Amino acid sequence: MASQDPIQEVEGDYRNSKTSFVKGVRMPSVYVYKTGFEEFIDKFQTRIDDVFIVGIPRSGTTWLQEITWQIYNGGKTSSEPIGHRVQFFDEAKYLGTTQPDITTQPSPRLMKTHQPYHTIPKGASDATACKYIYVARNPKDVVVSYYKFESKMAPLTGYSGPFEFFAKMFLEGKTFWGSWLEHVLGWWEHRDDSNVLFLKYEDLKEDLLSQVTIIADFLGKPLSEQVLKRIVKQCSFDEMAKNSEAYWMMTQDNKLPNFLRKGQVGGWKEHFTPELSAKFESEFLSKLEGSGLHFAFE
Ligand code: A3P
Repeated sequence: MASQDPIQEVEGDYRNSKTSFVKGVRMPSVYVYKTGFEEFIDKFQTRIDDVFIVGIPRSGTTWLQEITWQIYNGGKTSSEPIGHRVQFFDEAKYLGTTQPDITTQPSPRLMKTHQPYHTIPKGASDATACKYIYVARNPKDVVVSYYKFESKMAPLTGYSGPFEFFAKMFLEGKTFWGSWLEHVLGWWEHRDDSNVLFLKYEDLKEDLLSQVTIIADFLGKPLSEQVLKRIVKQCSFDEMAKNSEAYWMMTQDNKLPNFLRKGQVGGWKEHFTPELSAKFESEFLSKLEGSGLHFAFE
């Protein structure tokens, strides 16, 4: 996709960040070099044992970071910030400065990203093809969580307008990392690739034990029953919420709320008007018809 003007004012009221277009994807300018991130992606050499956790923000990527890290560490827990244990690939601007340089980190590299399928680094051959764990969540819950995040937590971006306008931007693909529909469908098309595991937040909520088993098998790291049960317990919402040091975010008023907010399915009902719900149905959910992708909403 042709590059657009790399830095533009974002529509709406993002307080602190302008938009950079990276291969056509809206990203917060604070995270990326002006145009250098495209080059960073192009030059990034994947390794066969790399694992990327992928999803549009607020879909459960932090949850997957923790689960994956624990699978690789035999069910250990840690209060070390999750971003140090499973690095955020999209924060390229900080890599090599306040963050270790991901390009030289030892294997296996566990990374998190919000990139859509077309921009994610891919190995040039089977010998360098890495693994991707994608997590999708119903868009009504994503937009509520995303709005709460941007208006209350996000220190670098920050949004100060009303929810209705944020939801409009989200429907139009104008929030950071772009259109929910394109993102999810772009990855869904690759769900049967042997190096892609496509998961749904709602399935993790419904039956974490079977989902952790699936993830461990996909990673080639089968778990004993004891470790499996430990990970399931440690990665429940309540247990992770206790480990606030690992997931804190500096807020705009410098308080430290937990990054984990409610962790529920269906919380959107408290925030949506019937009209907005109908818009999500027509703009997003009806367009999933025929794709085989469905979400639980209640
Ligand atoms: P809510 O704001 O609805 O609570 P991401 O990490 O991709 O940005 O996603 C954040 C969302 O995942 C937040 O949703 C957060 O609470 C939820 N989450 C994180 N850990 C979770 C867990 N163990 N169980 C359920 N939800 C979790």
